[in-house]
Amino acid sequence: RDMERLPILLWLCVAASSAHPLNGAARREDSGMELLQQYLENYYDLGKIVKQLVRTPGDSPVEKKIQEMQKFLGLKVTGKLDSDTLDIIRKPRCGVPDVGQFTQFPGMPKWRKNDLTYRVVNYTQDLSRDEVDSAIEKALKVWAEVTPLTFSRIYDGEADIMISFAFREHGDYIPFDGPGNVLGHAYAPGPGINGDAHFDDDELWTKDTTGTNLFLVAAHELGHSLGLFHSADPKALMYPLYNSFTDLARFRLSQDDVNGIQFLYGPPPASPADPKVPTEPSHQESETPPASCDPALSFDAVSTLRGEILFFKGRHVWRKSLRTAEPELYLISAFWPALPSGLDAAYEVTSKDTVFAFKGNQFWAIRGLEMQAGFPKSIYTLGFPATVKKLDAAIFVKEKKWTYFFAEDQYWRFDEKKQVMEAGFPRKISEDFPGVEKVDAAFEAFGFFYFFNESSQLEFDPNAKKVTHTLKSNSWFNC
Ligand SMILES: *[C@@H]1O[C@H](CO)[C@@H](O)[C@H](O)[C@H]1NC(C)=O
Ligand SMILES: *[C@@H]1O[C@H](CO)[C@@H](O)[C@H](O)[C@H]1NC(C)=O
Ligand SMILES: [Zn+2]
Repeated sequence: RDMERLPILLWLCVAASSAHPLNGAARREDSGMELLQQYLENYYDLGKIVKQLVRTPGDSPVEKKIQEMQKFLGLKVTGKLDSDTLDIIRKPRCGVPDVGQFTQFPGMPKWRKNDLTYRVVNYTQDLSRDEVDSAIEKALKVWAEVTPLTFSRIYDGEADIMISFAFREHGDYIPFDGPGNVLGHAYAPGPGINGDAHFDDDELWTKDTTGTNLFLVAAHELGHSLGLFHSADPKALMYPLYNSFTDLARFRLSQDDVNGIQFLYGPPPASPADPKVPTEPSHQESETPPASCDPALSFDAVSTLRGEILFFKGRHVWRKSLRTAEPELYLISAFWPALPSGLDAAYEVTSKDTVFAFKGNQFWAIRGLEMQAGFPKSIYTLGFPATVKKLDAAIFVKEKKWTYFFAEDQYWRFDEKKQVMEAGFPRKISEDFPGVEKVDAAFEAFGFFYFFNESSQLEFDPNAKKVTHTLKSNSWFNC
């Protein structure tokens, strides 16, 4: 209970330190080392004892910290204060640590409800009230668009997210510091002060990027208010460095931000005409129908469907009945208009008469020609860790009523009856399926598993635990 009151996250956004006069090389190096020391201390959990050693060249704990920082921020990993590193640490950034105790905080702070309230408690003088309101609204909309979250504004009383502008000490023991440096701070989800966002009113808040852009800072900060930590992806809104070069007109969340927030809250509820469902072809070559007997043919996903086999490729799908020799080629959209092209994986749970189709971190359910309501859902609802961004293939095993999910060199086992990911996974594919390494698509037929990799296909006997045949991918097409 005490934990909930802790300020889990704070945004101490440090503006570029043009305030440091640099006279001559010695002064330059000295100031750089001071900056580095402070940087590692603030954002990389550099302890007080280790801190004393910063000036000792070649000291390995410090070098490790420098390497950790260089890795996170996408710099060349040298373990040294080189000029690129010095440039980066002078850039404006968010003050939430990139590593350290905060990210290891026990329990994943998130809101336990989807309908949140916010209140703009007071305003900066730099912008009109309408301008502040619309920057905040726009910042919340960024997150609402990709989640089931809704934000309702209230005008008095306690909202989940209380937004205020303040100078210096303002009641939370984390005082602001005047112009520059710290721009604001925000608290992770929870009661009381948690979820709240405070902005330093000593900054010059602007609509554009001539000063500090309120929308950009608010969008990043509200990400913390919703429970997101920092991302190492430089394209992400949740990357720690403040990016004033963002083209505001074309601002959009990176896939990494979307994955992060959907890991916590899932995707928005689906509607049949949902414009966010990707429908554009992701495979250039699939504009023209693929040739069934091309020896280089590969598949995105393979699944059974009511006794037929579906082979997905780009925007197309082959339907192969075991009774007929020739496969039939269709546009996926001819059967399932809401299903995206370029699927990653698909499998049929025969006992539910349902095919599940995966792309990125989402999946859809189809029964015959009908898309099921309530989809797409996030793959994280199945129990995948956030590190999994997409799947490669899936196989449903009828006898056991479980599903194998393959991603890169690992696989998981999902209990379809209990609807839980089984303990002890992921495991290495090559350990349990000797001879199989990379999987593009897979399905089960006649008690064998068929694994597709590019233009080749392995027939695997799960009882003997060995590959029994190597085939061409399109061996099912009677070429
Ligand atoms: C705005 O509200 C906050 C929180 O109540 C308070 O700390 C701060 O002093 C107020 N700011 C101004 C400029 O009055
Ligand atoms: C996948 O198939 C390609 C092309 O057939 C082959 O070069 C590659 O070695 C295969 N990879 C694995 C891991 O089997
Ligand atoms: Zn931040």
